[in-house]
Amino acid sequence: MNDMQPDQIVGEYVEHTLNFYDGSSRKILVTEIETEFPKGCLIVSRTDTSGVITHCNESFVKMSGYAREELIDQPHSILRHPDIPPAAFADLWNTLEKGEKWNGYVKNLRKDGGYYWVYVTAIPNIRNSVTQGYTSVRREPSRKKVEECIKLYPTMF
Ligand SMILES: Cc1cc2nc3c(=O)[nH]c(=O)nc-3n(C[C@H](O)[C@H](O)[C@H](O)COP(=O)(O)O)c2cc1C
Repeated sequence: MNDMQPDQIVGEYVEHTLNFYDGSSRKILVTEIETEFPKGCLIVSRTDTSGVITHCNESFVKMSGYAREELIDQPHSILRHPDIPPAAFADLWNTLEKGEKWNGYVKNLRKDGGYYWVYVTAIPNIRNSVTQGYTSVRREPSRKKVEECIKLYPTMF
């Protein structure tokens, strides 16, 4: 994944380096600008078994700030925000790899450095007892739950 570049960013930013599970890293530029979840929309994506994006809907594209071509074939961690503790993603992967559904509140990073909160439901796509990939649907999160996560997540690092 490419490092984020200052000319993509809207507003004042802080630089972080994210270290990913596979050992790679990425320089990201993060602002405090929130994009509200679009009322009545569902943000949908599908991945292969390693979390690489294979499909995404128009709401996903719009909210991410990327072009569709920049998202397809990229790891889902292209949206990873530094405020979400790795333990949350470990729980997601452990749950999905057991063949179960995972729900959680996630803050996602946009291409322009801003963020948006979502309530994610992710499920394994199982055919003939074999996991083919994963589907995730994001709904508008309850503001109360988001406020709880804003307090809880920093304690999980
Ligand atoms: C179906 C599915 C949906 C995911 N959705 C997101 C997401 O919206 N935002 C995110 O940061 N990571 C999401 N992930 C988790 C990423 O694959 C990845 O684990 C995470 O960004 C942390 O990066 P790392 O595991 O490489 O350290 C999703 C994974 C799957 C399988």
